[in-house]
Amino acid sequence: MGLRISPSILSADFANLERDVRRIDNADWVHVDVMDNHFVPNLTLGLPVLEAIAGVTDTPVDAHLMIEDPDRWAPAYAEAGADSVTFHVEAAAAPVRLARELRGQGARASMALKPATPIEPYEDLLGELDMVLLMTVEPGFGGQAFLDIMLPKIRRTRALLDKHGGDVWLQVDGGVSESTIERCAEAGADTFVAGSAVFGADDPSAMVDALRDRAAAAARRHV
Ligand code: DX5
Ligand code: ZN
Repeated sequence: MGLRISPSILSADFANLERDVRRIDNADWVHVDVMDNHFVPNLTLGLPVLEAIAGVTDTPVDAHLMIEDPDRWAPAYAEAGADSVTFHVEAAAAPVRLARELRGQGARASMALKPATPIEPYEDLLGELDMVLLMTVEPGFGGQAFLDIMLPKIRRTRALLDKHGGDVWLQVDGGVSESTIERCAEAGADTFVAGSAVFGADDPSAMVDALRDRAAAAARRHV
């Protein structure tokens, strides 16, 4: 099973985004958190900044849209250079139509679930997706504590994905660090967002490798 580390630039220095993105050039993806102060109580960045980031790195960009009305806005993020676009199912009016539109643009289509949103109602949608993102904190802020209570949902989602076949990635986001990534990988996650753990480290690049090594060792224990 392939494993991917996607550092969140939410914990980077916003005055030095290009420098900080280069600091993690061994990462598999760059995770960009878009917040609109409506879907979540925080405001970060939007299309022009994502486009600028995509323009200064060869690492694929993983856009996580914590916004209202993704049906209207998400395709513009694919257009701006995001290789993967994640919309929240709680905010999407027509998730199937949106996923098909994103794929039609050549982007990977991904659907995110807040901690209290169950995966089971969306089982029939999995074939429309390239990734499912399970939030392991309430979305809105970096640096929050990992919610262990999400581990059963990670396991149930992994079981559904295995049952349906295909190659849908399972991403976890929130509180992922050296001390929590193994639990996530053992439960079946294969794609890991880490913000404060990476950019709070003395050597962000070394932390990316350390996280990947820990996840790989733990994934071998996944049952
Ligand atoms: C939270 C964001 C996360 C956040 C993760 O709403 O979606 O991507 O940046 O930050 P850490 O890894 O610090 O929890
Ligand atoms: Zn995120």
